[in-house]
Amino acid sequence: MKIFSIETSCDETSAAVIENGRIIIKNVVSSSKDLHTITGGIIPEIAAREQLKCIIPVINEALGNSNNLSGIDSLAVTVGPGLNGSLLIGVETAKALAMITGKPLIPVNHIFAHLYANWLDKKHDIVLPAIGLVVSGGHTELFLVKKDHTFKWLGGTRDDAAGEAFDKTARLIDLGYPGGPAISASASQWLDGQKLYREITLPRPMMDEDNLEFSFSGLKTAVIREVNRMKIDNQWNEIARNFIAYEIQEAITDVLTKKTLMAVKQFNVSTLIIGGGVAANKRLTEKFKEKIKNEKLKISLNIPIPPLCTDNAAYIASYAYFHNNPQPWQEIQAKPDLAVEV
Ligand code: KG4
Ligand code: ZN
Repeated sequence: MKIFSIETSCDETSAAVIENGRIIIKNVVSSSKDLHTITGGIIPEIAAREQLKCIIPVINEALGNSNNLSGIDSLAVTVGPGLNGSLLIGVETAKALAMITGKPLIPVNHIFAHLYANWLDKKHDIVLPAIGLVVSGGHTELFLVKKDHTFKWLGGTRDDAAGEAFDKTARLIDLGYPGGPAISASASQWLDGQKLYREITLPRPMMDEDNLEFSFSGLKTAVIREVNRMKIDNQWNEIARNFIAYEIQEAITDVLTKKTLMAVKQFNVSTLIIGGGVAANKRLTEKFKEKIKNEKLKISLNIPIPPLCTDNAAYIASYAYFHNNPQPWQEIQAKPDLAVEV
């Protein structure tokens, strides 16, 4: 079964052709993130205008410039959550294609779908039930993904998402947008043993609480305080910036791994699946591997390759394959606030 999918929830315009939910035939992604680097964050109006500019060329390329949907069985589109202006472009385009071709159209929740990047181009099967962690720019959510692919929401962030924490703290230390890759690059420049003005440990909010919730907004305040103190004392330099970046990455990945493995033990599952832009963070993978080994947990850890962690249409089609629930195109609408707490 071949699904043609469209994803336009934020600053990526993407279209893909996926076979049987697992084989990537084509996955085209155009990102407007360079424009948002100039402004230091996403301006929804600019993101929407870029979606409009890119949607037809991206679809055209995904279909191999043939503009031919004849070999496609179903269509799928992200309906939310996301930015309204961006979502509308993809949703209305997909509805037009469904109307013209008469093919079924499957509406997809972008956050659940992130986890399905783990099914793509893999030799092994993903055994369910699993604990799923979605860590993106706007979401940090833990799910139990049951045998029948239904989701139970277990917990999420009370304030900032993990990606948002990377983005906002990166801005505070003059690293660009998106913050995650910038912090990661700066952190890797910090060498253990380099002389620091003084020891700094950033908070790991809620890490030791016995629940599956997160909170990352306190990190910003802590970073502002430390950086200001160093600036006043004339100690703010490249080494200090790299160390703060390193410590931000350690704090976020410490909390994410601890809470996620808490869920794994609580629900006694043997599969862990991670998705979302922050899953592209190498230190996060490293830390999951370390902890799983140290705690002698018998679980299969699944993290997609980095280009499949960040937004793209391939996992939208994969999710649609496993949740094949088409709706009449007349009833499908963009839902910027689509819930994930099910
Ligand atoms: O899933 P995604 O592409 O878009 C949303 O659905 O939000 O995630 C974007 C987020 C941004 O906050 C970005 O800073 C973060 O993912 N990100 C990373 C890395 N690559 C992207 N965070 C940490 N390390 C990375 N390597
Ligand atoms: Zn996303």
